[in-house]
Amino acid sequence: MKKILVTGGTGFIGSHTVVELQQHGYEVVIVDDLSNSSVEVLDQIRKITGIRPAFEQFDLVDRERTADFFARHEQLSGIIHFAAFKAAGESMEKPLEYYRNNVVSLLNILDGMKMHGIRDIVFSSSCTVYGQPDQLPVTEDAPFKTAWSPYGNTKQICEDILRFNTLLLPIRVIALRYFNPIGAHDSALIGELPLGVPNNLVPFITQTAIGKRECLSVFGNDYDTPDGTAIRDYIHVVDLARAHVVAVERMIQGNCLHNLEVFNLGTGIGFTVMEVIQSFERVSGVKLNYRIAPRRAGDVEKVWADTRLANETLGWKAVHSLDEMMLSAWNWEKALAKGVG
Ligand code: UD1
Repeated sequence: MKKILVTGGTGFIGSHTVVELQQHGYEVVIVDDLSNSSVEVLDQIRKITGIRPAFEQFDLVDRERTADFFARHEQLSGIIHFAAFKAAGESMEKPLEYYRNNVVSLLNILDGMKMHGIRDIVFSSSCTVYGQPDQLPVTEDAPFKTAWSPYGNTKQICEDILRFNTLLLPIRVIALRYFNPIGAHDSALIGELPLGVPNNLVPFITQTAIGKRECLSVFGNDYDTPDGTAIRDYIHVVDLARAHVVAVERMIQGNCLHNLEVFNLGTGIGFTVMEVIQSFERVSGVKLNYRIAPRRAGDVEKVWADTRLANETLGWKAVHSLDEMMLSAWNWEKALAKGVG
């Protein structure tokens, strides 16, 4: 059985990917420091797949611990590296923490790959590397724009580190640029677990609807879009998770055309904030309390993916509709309210 290291495997996208990997016959070992996730996710994964993944709790910024991990896991077939801080706004307050966590952990992993001859790594990148693209839908060859936040900059730096290292080391990299992952597993056993007040739109919507928050602020209605609210390409987290299995298989089967491949992961369709709210109200039957607020600093106006490369080269396509995404997010919020598990 092929064994895959999933860093950040108890997090939102990581946990859904672990489920898909196990369901495709992979053995998974998770490394996570639990700084933004809960150990209970392991039992939730077991309830879905029947297998509790192996787990080690440590911070990949710790060079010695990371080296020791790799020394004890010589037989890894590949790595999916999710573990990172991900809140753009917070990164403005804590830039050093973001650079240290996101960049140093990748360096330590690359050291481990070099030392133990591990060839394949899938890296979690983000559409944030594009900033506000000049052309939409945005393709993978669009240039990086000056980052708007330390968080976005760490994704650019990590992609660059990987690119230069593919010139030197016998490694292969697939960088996946996520658009806006939302939703939850159909079982409602795993989903997004934001700590404190959510930054992201969909958890804020579902928390408002369930009564944890008073009112959703819609950040800006004077953008150059059909209803004035900002446009994003929302993608179901299970679609996203499946793309990682496809990427791992592509690497293991030796099908990569280049040592570094980059793919956009989105649906290719942009929705405004108002359309997301309407979809939520439609599927939940709940009237959402919201108000229009000023634009949020650092937000781009509109972005959605050109998905042709992922569709044609990976043979992968997102299949879930916006309504399905919102329904699964709502079912997850209701499960949380009942006490998941
Ligand atoms: C954000 C990050 C992005 C990161 C992603 C990770 C910023 C600027 N970008 O994406 O780099 O990769 O999260 O999850 O932080 N909105 C509201 N009210 C809210 C919350 C959001 O109107 O309470 C709007 C936003 O203005 C935006 C849309 O909803 O137009 C989506 O916002 P969000 O879910 O935070 O994602 P991004 O900002 O696109």
